[in-house]
Amino acid sequence: MTQNYLANTELPLTEFTTRRERFFASMPENSIALFPAAIELTRSNDTEYPFCQNKNFYYLTGFPEPDAVLLLIKAEVNRVVLFSREKDAFKEVWQGRRIGQELAVSTYGLDECFTLDQQDLLIPDYMTDKTTLLYCMGENEPVSQTFETKVFDWLKAVKAKARLGKKAPTKLVDCSAIIHEMRLIKSEAELAVMRKVNQISGVAHQRAMQKSAVGKFEYQIEAEILHEFAINGAKAPAYTSIVAGGDNGNILHYTENSDCLKDNEMLLIDAGGELAGYAADITRTFPINGVFTAEQKAIYQLVLDSQAIAIQDIKPQNTLAHLNKLTCDFLTEGLYNLGILKGDLNTLIEQKACKKYFIHGLGHWLGLDVHDVGDYQSNQKREQLRAFEAGMVMTIEPGLYIPLDELSVEEKWRGIAVRIEDNILVTETGYENLTVNAPKEIAEIETLMANS
Ligand code: GLY
Ligand code: MN
Ligand code: MN
Repeated sequence: MTQNYLANTELPLTEFTTRRERFFASMPENSIALFPAAIELTRSNDTEYPFCQNKNFYYLTGFPEPDAVLLLIKAEVNRVVLFSREKDAFKEVWQGRRIGQELAVSTYGLDECFTLDQQDLLIPDYMTDKTTLLYCMGENEPVSQTFETKVFDWLKAVKAKARLGKKAPTKLVDCSAIIHEMRLIKSEAELAVMRKVNQISGVAHQRAMQKSAVGKFEYQIEAEILHEFAINGAKAPAYTSIVAGGDNGNILHYTENSDCLKDNEMLLIDAGGELAGYAADITRTFPINGVFTAEQKAIYQLVLDSQAIAIQDIKPQNTLAHLNKLTCDFLTEGLYNLGILKGDLNTLIEQKACKKYFIHGLGHWLGLDVHDVGDYQSNQKREQLRAFEAGMVMTIEPGLYIPLDELSVEEKWRGIAVRIEDNILVTETGYENLTVNAPKEIAEIETLMANS
């Protein structure tokens, strides 16, 4: 059977219909769930930021337009209803094509589709006599702020008809957890997209290494990365690329990317493409002139080895808390051996002394969002106790950061920042590293850069 792929999703329609069926199965009897699309956001005057679809809405529909609302109505026969922008010849000439209601129904596997101006009339009708109303509360401000106001207006409209015997839902349920749990476990079709976007992003990191040179600007290397994403099919980055030379690498989310690259410094690049909504999140750190100094090599190898130790223990039932402990113990001992941490080693390990220089978490879920949804089951001590399951994808990204103004260490270490980040899938028997082609061994990087 030929699969009906939805435009720009890399996924067949059946992927989306199956997701909706699974969501329906989690809904209480006689209920209705509402999911808003994202809205366009003004950048300045009459220009907008590039549009990014609401990820929950996208996950359930694959529908690309702003302003739409999805209704999943659970009754004896479940119904999938969409409200979307109406066709408008004038606006389509100025702003772009609109799918319209007829094509939306046939392409996206809906039962019905209405224009946006029918929402206030029809949504209260769909809510009438339902017991439970579900929506994702408090997500994606400012979209949901506007949306929540509308939800309560629709509820009020039903309640206003109480004397006609109409009943409004009495239970409001936040369905974020349901959809987040679904999104946390990736299907084979999703994994195919994530492998592809990792492959594309890996090529971009190779290019960045090849194009780096003393005297170039960080934003010029950023442009090389964006170029490689796009020519390989990832139209945009999943997040603003971090291209941080030297001490800028010590600013975790440095995105100014405006400085000149200097000799004997390293370049930390945290950049991943987005493909069909799915993110890659890869970091590589390498010497701008192509050759690591002794100090850079020592810190880099320590981070690289700590990453290997964490990755090799990924399998079902293990936890981020466990990986964090392995990494922290290893980094603490390594920093002690380099003379950067001083004192009694056992005490340092107990105190997690490496956290002075390893100042962020080890990793996070990855998927439609770069910091993807899904409960980490963190305890009061911020240990993440969620047992891994096959189909979860996470980043593993240890780093060490020694800013120029860190006067408690010898001068030779100051200004070094290293993060190495791969994207890892949990499989039934262990793991699969999706980050296949972004060089990270010291010899590999130096050889690539020497031959560029
Ligand atoms: N790119 C952001 C992060 O690594 O978490
Ligand atoms: Mn990350
Ligand atoms: Mn990252």
